[in-house]
Amino acid sequence: TAIWAVVPAAGSGSRFGGDVPKQYVEVAGRPLIAHALDALLAHPRVDGAMVALAADDARWPGWTSHHDKPVLTCQGAAERALSVLAALDALRERAGDDALVLVHDAARPNLAAADLDRVIDAALETADGALLAAPVRDTLKRGDRDRSAGTQPRDGLWRALTPQAARLGVLRDALRRALADGIAVTDEAMALEHAGLRPRLVEGREDNIKVTTPADRALVEYLLRASAS
Ligand code: C5P
Repeated sequence: TAIWAVVPAAGSGSRFGGDVPKQYVEVAGRPLIAHALDALLAHPRVDGAMVALAADDARWPGWTSHHDKPVLTCQGAAERALSVLAALDALRERAGDDALVLVHDAARPNLAAADLDRVIDAALETADGALLAAPVRDTLKRGDRDRSAGTQPRDGLWRALTPQAARLGVLRDALRRALADGIAVTDEAMALEHAGLRPRLVEGREDNIKVTTPADRALVEYLLRASAS
């Protein structure tokens, strides 16, 4: 089975100030997207990557990759799910509907090889897809303005991480259908669920952090420097 990484990197998020989109924020000397791509391409089972970039992206690639596998690009879109769909459309000609795709956020630089291995194995064993996820550890409150109005039992609740894996054709159909049905799709598993599938939950490391705030960035900087030394 051909296995391809799909990396949506067309977001314009610049919550770190300046005009640097999040995927290009530097951590441990390299942009987030370089760490994410290297983690994916370093895996011997991954054949290459398709990256969805913003139309006005002037920074790609801007760094040296440690791998010589194909890294293809396509134009992303206004929402993450549309960027993923554009990448699947572009990859389809090259890899076909049966390829296994691993959709991974450019903003998650600290992906462990063992987690990648496990989510690939799980996705190859089922037709429903698979995702890395972490059990919810905190007690969850329903807010009514500044008052707590109830507690949501956390049993059986997971935080969805990436990569999320499925057969290219299955995921493409599911995303198209979910978007056509007006679902606000925030991850691949949501589209698969909407299509009646039940993606496998693969427990992943909690330090597979999506960098969103300066605090996340500081934590990831520490983690990446610790694992490099
Ligand atoms: O903003 P958020 O952290 O949810 O973005 C997750 C990933 O999706 C990022 O890698 C971002 O670049 C990507 N994205 C995209 N196209 C969009 C919005 C986000 O590829 N329109």
